[in-house]
Amino acid sequence: MNSHPLPRINIAIDGPAGAGKSTVARMVARDMHYIYIDTGAMYRTVALKALEAGISPEEEDRATALAERLDIRLLPGPEGQKVLADGEDVSSRIRSLEVNRSVSAFAKIEGVRKRMAALQRKMALEKGVVMDGRDIGTHVLPDAELKVFLTASPRERALRRYRELGDNPGISLDQLEREIAERDRTDREREIAPLVQADDARFFDSTGRPAEEVAGVITEWGMAIARTISAEEK
Ligand code: DC
Repeated sequence: MNSHPLPRINIAIDGPAGAGKSTVARMVARDMHYIYIDTGAMYRTVALKALEAGISPEEEDRATALAERLDIRLLPGPEGQKVLADGEDVSSRIRSLEVNRSVSAFAKIEGVRKRMAALQRKMALEKGVVMDGRDIGTHVLPDAELKVFLTASPRERALRRYRELGDNPGISLDQLEREIAERDRTDREREIAPLVQADDARFFDSTGRPAEEVAGVITEWGMAIARTISAEEK
């Protein structure tokens, strides 16, 4: 038995919509006994609350003010992560089509991004987090010990999101694929913290590969890095 636990590291998983980031990140966190942080859920919560308050993405000051005063909590639970906005459970509402369609526009706003990045950095201070998003390796946690850029073919990504919408998707698979492509374009082309692969990130195409297998590879990478750090510390 090793009585000295391995040092904890931070793991950043970035990539486009539907690449399987959250499923894989959750599994890696489970296997490494780390905390999983879904940063997309935080932007979704801002978008949902803004829509409910009648704030449009063009009203940047109002959206920023809302993001700054909103209390967002991510709680691990048996059926996945629970998202609380000012104490209210919004976990399923943040996955609606309306939120899907508007979240990229809110995520472009500088004040919103500043606030979310500050919250995310705070959550990672103690190390031992697996954080997924678009700008984690490049911007939020540039010093993360392991960075992964996860992607999959556009069709497979659309299919994954389609299944997430449940029995009444309210949209065709083709239309969903077009909307995902559009969202990726907005995320890639925005000025602040766009979706790009960090220079030191490991690229991983998950097309046709089961999530458990992808998570197994990433966990192995993480453990290897933690072991190296541990050996260097001795
Ligand atoms: O991963 P997701 O589909 O739940 O993300 C929702 C939106 O939030 C997506 O359009 C991009 C944006 N986002 C972002 O800009 N930066 C992040 N770190 C995470 C998500």
